[in-house]
Amino acid sequence: MNVRDSLLKAFAEAGKDYISGSALAEKLGVSRNAVWKAVKALESEGYIIDSVTAKGYRLSKDSNHLSEHLIASKLTASVLGKRIIVLDEIDSTNNYAKELTAKDKSNGTIIVADRQTAGKGRMGRSFVSPSGKGLYMSVILRPEFSLHIAPLITSAVAVAVAEAIESLCDTDISIKWVNDLYLNGKKICGILTEGSMDMEMRAMDIAVIGIGINVRSVEGCFDEELSKRASSIEDETGIVIDRNALCAAVINYIDIYLNRIENRSYLREYRRRELLTGNEITANVGNETITGKAVGIDRNANLMVELENGIVRSLSSGEANLCRIKQS
Ligand code: BTN
Repeated sequence: MNVRDSLLKAFAEAGKDYISGSALAEKLGVSRNAVWKAVKALESEGYIIDSVTAKGYRLSKDSNHLSEHLIASKLTASVLGKRIIVLDEIDSTNNYAKELTAKDKSNGTIIVADRQTAGKGRMGRSFVSPSGKGLYMSVILRPEFSLHIAPLITSAVAVAVAEAIESLCDTDISIKWVNDLYLNGKKICGILTEGSMDMEMRAMDIAVIGIGINVRSVEGCFDEELSKRASSIEDETGIVIDRNALCAAVINYIDIYLNRIENRSYLREYRRRELLTGNEITANVGNETITGKAVGIDRNANLMVELENGIVRSLSSGEANLCRIKQS
């Protein structure tokens, strides 16, 4: 590891504590001048480093730079996050991840970008992904799930991301079926899972789970229409979360929740947070718009809707689009 990377690792380990230049020099096995040069190099990359005479250095809490080392230092998962690729800019982390899976056998690799120029949402929509504002990440999985379990991945990840956010800021995150996370009635996160099946094995081959979380204030970033529906964690709570810590928490919680898919135990948490249940809703299903009461989430994470004629219809995430609470 070079001096720059070792320095970042040392900052990650020290957390809020300052470390003196001489302690860093000793830890890294280099001269104090080399430490100073590495500090300057990090600052020129955009990291904010607090430097106080007689105390030393630490990474500022205002530093908003994504770093593989700062993410990795907080990981507890074993396979997930073994490889982390941090990019300044990319069209879409999901596209990057899919290209990677065509080249190698990566499993558990995480792609994170500061900014996406063509962030993708569900149903061909776009996901606005400005620099420094959000956590835009994709997780590559080669799960050993059978075909009937694969559709549950996204809803389990939604619970994992909700818990990750709550672990870092004192707030309550809701889930709007199937994969949108809400805070104070506004969308702050969307999830897009893309995958390929191994038809012969009747199993999921590759899943690329794309997660977009609006972390910092998005004031001025969204058009009028989007501003009414979407927001960010900072705008809703006033709390500024470190994106590296959030990324690590998301990975750690996904690792936990992947193990709760096959026995479907995660569904209890999903149902507790789900917003449509109990409400009159409208949903676009193919070419028709259906109206009814959302009465729950079934064991396959489908939304159960009681139609006006009393029949309960289960909607899968693939067929239903634009599910909304009916305005009275
Ligand atoms: C949605 O709200 O419809 C889903 C949004 C998913 C956005 C994330 S950001 C990281 C990953 N890369 C993409 O292009 N999309 C997902």
